[in-house]
Amino acid sequence: MKLTIFGSTGGTGHHIVTQALEQGHTVTAFARNPERLHQTHKKLRIMKGDVLDFASVERAVQGQDAVICSLGLPPMSKSNLRAEGTKNIIRAMEKTGVKRFICQSTAGVGDSRDTLPFLMKYIIVPFILRRAWRDHEIQENYIKESQLEWIIARPTALTDGGHTGSYQHGFTADTKKITKKISRADTADFMLKQLVDNTYLHKTPCISYSSRHITVWGRWRGHSRAAPYPDVMPQTLAVNDRVRVFRGQRQAAGRRLSYPESPSHQ
Ligand SMILES: NC(=O)c1ccc[n+]([C@@H]2O[C@H](COP(=O)([O-])OP(=O)(O)OC[C@H]3O[C@@H](n4cnc5c(N)ncnc54)[C@H](OP(=O)(O)O)[C@@H]3O)[C@@H](O)[C@H]2O)c1
Repeated sequence: MKLTIFGSTGGTGHHIVTQALEQGHTVTAFARNPERLHQTHKKLRIMKGDVLDFASVERAVQGQDAVICSLGLPPMSKSNLRAEGTKNIIRAMEKTGVKRFICQSTAGVGDSRDTLPFLMKYIIVPFILRRAWRDHEIQENYIKESQLEWIIARPTALTDGGHTGSYQHGFTADTKKITKKISRADTADFMLKQLVDNTYLHKTPCISYSSRHITVWGRWRGHSRAAPYPDVMPQTLAVNDRVRVFRGQRQAAGRRLSYPESPSHQ
C-alpha cells in the first residue's frame, strides 16, 4: 500500500514508519523537521511540511491508498494542532479521493471517559490535560463527520516498551484486568493492522495490555522454554497475563509472562 504518515517523527509515528516499511508498504513521511527522521529506505519518501499548511498536506496525500495520523503536542500546550491539522488532512483526502484514514486519539475521550483510572478522570484530565482532551475531542468530531473510511485508535497511557503484538483492543469501561498502558510500538502495530481490517470501521477502539490471571489445568513442563504451557493455545495468552499452572489439585508454578517468554512469540 502507499501510505502517508503525519506525525512521522513522533514517539508513535516513527514506529509506524518503521513497521510500515518492514511490512513492505511505500511510505510518505510528512515531517516539519525531516532531520528528526533517522531513516533511509528505498520505499521511504520524506516530505517536509507543516500540517497547518493545506497545500503541502494536499501534495502529501495525493495518489495514496491510505493516511495515518499520529499528530501530537507537549501535554500542556494550548495549541489545537491535532484538531486543525486533522481538519486539513480530511479536507485534502476528500479532495483527492483518498478514503482510508487511521488516526491516533486517546482513551478517555468521549464515550471512553469511564475507562480512565480515578486520578486521571477526576484530577489530571480536568485540571491538567483539559486542553489536550478538548483538542482530541474536536479532532474526533471532525473525523466522525467526514465521508472517509475512518478508524480512531484510542491508546491508554503510552510507554516506550517493546513491540509485542499482544494486547487487548475494543474493550469497554466494564472490562477488568487491563493495565491501562500500551507501548507506542504496539500502538503502531494496531494502527497498521487497521489498514485492511474492517472490524472497527467507523469505530473508536481503546487499546491496552491485559493483566488477566489465567489458570491452566494440565501438565507443567517448566523445564522446556519451547513449550512451557502445553495446554494453552498461544493465542489466549498476552503479555502481562499471570499464569498459574496446576497439576491435578496442586499448584506447580505461578508467574507473570513477559516478552519474549510468552508462547505467543515463540
Ligand atoms: N502520552 C500518552 O500517554 C498518550 C496516551 C494516549 C494518546 N496520546 C496521544 O497520542 C498522540 C501521539 O503521541 P506521541 O507521544 O507518540 O507523539 P509525539 O512524540 O508528541 O509526536 C507528535 C508528532 O506530531 C508532529 N507535529 C506536531 N506539530 C506539527 C505540525 N504543525 N506539522 C506537522 N507535524 C507536527 C511532531 O513533529 P515534530 O517532530 O516536528 O515536533 C511529531 O512528529 C498525541 O496526540 C497524544 O495526545 C498520548
